[in-house]
Amino acid sequence: MTIRTVPLTPFEGQRPGTSGLRQKVAVFRQEGYIEAFVQSLFEALPEATGEGIAGKTLLIGGDGRFFNDEAIQTILKLAAANGLGRMLVGRGGILSTPAASAIIRARGCLGGIILSASHNPGGPGGDFGIKYNTGNGGPAPERVTEAVYRRTRSIARYRTLDAPPLPLDREGDTALAGMAVSVIDPVADYAALLERVFDFDRLRDLFRGGFRLRFDAMNAVTGPYARDIFERRLGAPAGTVVNGTPKPDFGGLHPDPNPAHARALVAALAGSDAPDLGAASDGDGDRNMIVGRGLVVSPSDSLAILAANAGLVPWFRRGLAGVARSMPTSRALDRVAAELGIPCFETPTGWKYFGNLLDAGRVALCGEESAGTGSDHLREKDGLWAVLFWLSIMAASRAAVADILGAHWRRYGRNFYARHDYEGLDRERATVLVDRLRGGLSALPGKSFEGLAVESADDFAYTDPVDGSVTAAQGCCIHLAGGSRIVYRLSGTGTEGATLRVYLEHYEPDPARHLLPAESVLAPLAAAAGEIAEIAALTGRSRPSVIA
Ligand code: G1P
Ligand code: ZN
Repeated sequence: MTIRTVPLTPFEGQRPGTSGLRQKVAVFRQEGYIEAFVQSLFEALPEATGEGIAGKTLLIGGDGRFFNDEAIQTILKLAAANGLGRMLVGRGGILSTPAASAIIRARGCLGGIILSASHNPGGPGGDFGIKYNTGNGGPAPERVTEAVYRRTRSIARYRTLDAPPLPLDREGDTALAGMAVSVIDPVADYAALLERVFDFDRLRDLFRGGFRLRFDAMNAVTGPYARDIFERRLGAPAGTVVNGTPKPDFGGLHPDPNPAHARALVAALAGSDAPDLGAASDGDGDRNMIVGRGLVVSPSDSLAILAANAGLVPWFRRGLAGVARSMPTSRALDRVAAELGIPCFETPTGWKYFGNLLDAGRVALCGEESAGTGSDHLREKDGLWAVLFWLSIMAASRAAVADILGAHWRRYGRNFYARHDYEGLDRERATVLVDRLRGGLSALPGKSFEGLAVESADDFAYTDPVDGSVTAAQGCCIHLAGGSRIVYRLSGTGTEGATLRVYLEHYEPDPARHLLPAESVLAPLAAAAGEIAEIAALTGRSRPSVIA
């Protein structure tokens, strides 16, 4: 097979965001688009990591969404033409994000390419994405993603070869030019790792005793993983996993595990014959949703509850060295850390910022308000891990989700929390809003909005305690009297216009107020947030598009 060098003109905007390069499928399908990005990746890696790619092993797979197969075939040819030694491919092109992280680590790969737009809609009119994970199994740090982006701006040709598509539906070894291609089981390494993290015997007992779980894979990638782990390894009854076959268009579902998109799950948990626990994951399996009878656990609370109960999980037998959360995530976690006497780090939004802390052993558990939690068992957030953790807590306490939550609040107080998203805003207007807000921060302390006094205001900047790298302008943070907080930032994962995220948090120590509806508790904060940033005037929107 002869290697061809194909000239190309650089594409605008191939800059990886919060989690890789994400665009509409139509953008990705442009002639040479994937090639330009992946060729740039291959050329940037040696420069950014000091390690060549020749003869090395990379992992590839994705969440099964539309264009997954085609992208994999294209990338395999590029990899062969660029001198990679071996490509490991998840069978059927399938790999969840956490499983990819586990496999990269278990098999000592140079890194991995994960094809996913996470919880964004799929299908021909939907989104596609590509992200690179390094040899530690975690998302490439900014040093790498920026080097790739710089390459994409000057890339003038790519290397490929002509070859028919490789069959990827059965495990085994083939070759492409001089490069080995191994199709591997996408589940085995990952499930084996989770068996080491949790006490599977105890969880088997739980199901043997009649415990009922409903796990909704939303026709996305976690179906095969969930069936293997819950139904096969743990003996949960068949049918525990619903929507368990990955489909290119997610069967019309939107695999974003929140009350709006996982409505059927929430309804199933509200019925008279509701299961004990409901759970869901997103497109690529790194997010989670935890649903009890008649209630949805907020991700920030879930993170704090996991930290408080780490002692129930064999992996954490020696305790937690520290914990971390992204800046907008509620500070419920901080309260648990304070009681445990361990550090709690505050990082910018995006899993990549946890990588150094996890690698250095400074944190063992971390998470984000956006339904992502994980630990040092791998270097991504992990949806099924969170579900197994909740099962472990329920196996030990035999209590209902609502009781676990209530007990947690009574002990630590409740951090009422909500995120208001203003989606599809005009990019320029959104930038004006954030620039004005940023410019006015220093004048806010001392002023009051809706009766709430501003104590301090800052533009969040993070100095990585491990490598000293600085990441600035990560969100405007307004601290109000009484420990309330408003945070504003623009999304880095959207593909249409701009999304303004406004995060509201109010701490309530009084148990008599813990069952008040979050919406009413947070109403004054929401009003203050609108006033401070002049949201209505600057965006033309009187209310958020989504409240999470
Ligand atoms: C969103 C979430 C963030 C998460 C990311 C990838 O990013 O807010 O916590 O890490 O998706 O799943 P954003 O769109 O806010 O930049
Ligand atoms: Zn995801």
